Amino acid sequence: MDINVIHEAIQEQDTDLIVVNLFEGVTQPGGATGAVDRALGGAVGDLIAGGDFKGKLDETAVLYPRGAIPARRVLIVGLGKAEEFTLDRVRRASATAARRARDLGARRFATIVHGAGIGGLEAQSAAQALAEGTLLGLYEFNRHKAPSEDQRQVAEMAVVEFDAARLPAIEAGVRAGRAIAAAVALTRDLVNEPPNFATPTLLAQRAHQIAEGRRISVTVLEREEMRELGMGALLAVAQGSDEPPKFIILDYQPEPRQEGATPPTVVLVGKGITFDSGGLSIKPAEGMEEMKSDMAGGAAVMGAVQAIADLNLPVRVVGLVPATENVINGHAYKPADIVRAMNGKTIEIISTDAEGRLILADALVYAKRYAPQAVVDLATLTGACITALGKGQAAGLFSTDDKLAEQLKRASASTGERIWPLPLYDEYSDVMKSDVADLKNSGGRYSGVGASAAFLKAFAEGYPWAHLDIAPMAYLDKDKPYTPKGATGFGVRLLVQFVRDLVAA
Ligand code: BES
Ligand code: MN
Ligand code: ZN
Repeated sequence: MDINVIHEAIQEQDTDLIVVNLFEGVTQPGGATGAVDRALGGAVGDLIAGGDFKGKLDETAVLYPRGAIPARRVLIVGLGKAEEFTLDRVRRASATAARRARDLGARRFATIVHGAGIGGLEAQSAAQALAEGTLLGLYEFNRHKAPSEDQRQVAEMAVVEFDAARLPAIEAGVRAGRAIAAAVALTRDLVNEPPNFATPTLLAQRAHQIAEGRRISVTVLEREEMRELGMGALLAVAQGSDEPPKFIILDYQPEPRQEGATPPTVVLVGKGITFDSGGLSIKPAEGMEEMKSDMAGGAAVMGAVQAIADLNLPVRVVGLVPATENVINGHAYKPADIVRAMNGKTIEIISTDAEGRLILADALVYAKRYAPQAVVDLATLTGACITALGKGQAAGLFSTDDKLAEQLKRASASTGERIWPLPLYDEYSDVMKSDVADLKNSGGRYSGVGASAAFLKAFAEGYPWAHLDIAPMAYLDKDKPYTPKGATGFGVRLLVQFVRDLVAA
């Protein structure tokens, strides 16, 4: 879909539909909505006076101008209470409006930037949120379906701004929003893609496509190279699969800015289990299909590196995606096996279903070679985290570094991608001690969340580290305005904002 920024008045747009907005409880519309109301002879005011539109968040109403203005339809979207207004509500309202426009069959529509006028938000971030909400709300995954007869699709959105002084900020915001939304869509596509397509090999191919035309270099380690490096934990998981595992490295190097100045380095690590059957500790059949989303952390890292490169951020960002299936053939690893990770630590396998921490262990050890200022890993790691925080509510945040945790929480607040801190007590590590090896990979039924993070901590040595358990957020079965059900792309916007804030600070 094309997005164009235009310096004109919204009521003068000759298009299928124009979008204006209203805060809850407003009786006399002002700004652009007021201008449209006047052009329609007070039709918006009538709608409010008649009690037919209250301005509640996500409420919509359609008016037909019948020639009073060039547009064929006017769509009013509610923004909720003015005192509760946030950037996230701009994303929501934008998504609601765009989806309504699509349902109405509009191919082209024009909109004002919600929140930049009366809402009092900064024009650039409001425009970014408008672009993000629109594109993310219109996202669909229908690659494997016959096209429907009634294919409604929006081809173009015009962002209309009357105040010339705001145009540069709006253009910059739309540009950023477009790059970020494209990255989220890439991540969603990878996660939605069925596991017979989205193999480790496909992830590696996608990584090469991402690198093309960007300041990103890609290296993919094969089974043999992993063996030479001593990645025995990752290889143990991979040995039960006929699909070759891939250790994917995306390395974004920013343009040099100042002579001799080296940019900070951040390593992002993402769990890339392309299907988690549980292995010999096999999962119940019901709901197993959702385990195609067990590479959501890896896909989010790939999306984030793409967006960070597109935004030209002056930080070296390395994305590491250990990728393999967790399935069973005659070579599959077994409970009671003992494996050796890249840092030499041995691990007793209690459950082959606790595979995520094994592949992350080797990736976290590998991360150290970049001498990074921070390492953040994202993983659909535990069902226990879903139980603790609630599906669709928040991702769990664990960190060995308070400052890093603060920075992530800040990025979470501005993106609306919620994360919630959970403890990393020393005592959790006792739970993961084995009688026969240095560690075991599961602490049992009642040691779900903290113990998984404590296990990772034994491998995340030598740098500030944070772990995000995104199991509650990666894949949802309910529609939200800008997150249609299925893959959410959770983490991409958060990581991009985190890196953006690093250099703004
Ligand atoms: N991929 C799962 C975690 C998961 C479960 C993500 C449900 C999303 C939805 C992970 O590999 C796993 O199986 N974890 C086990 C760990 C246990 C065996 C220690 C779990 O949470 O039950
Ligand atoms: Mn598992
Ligand atoms: Zn898993």
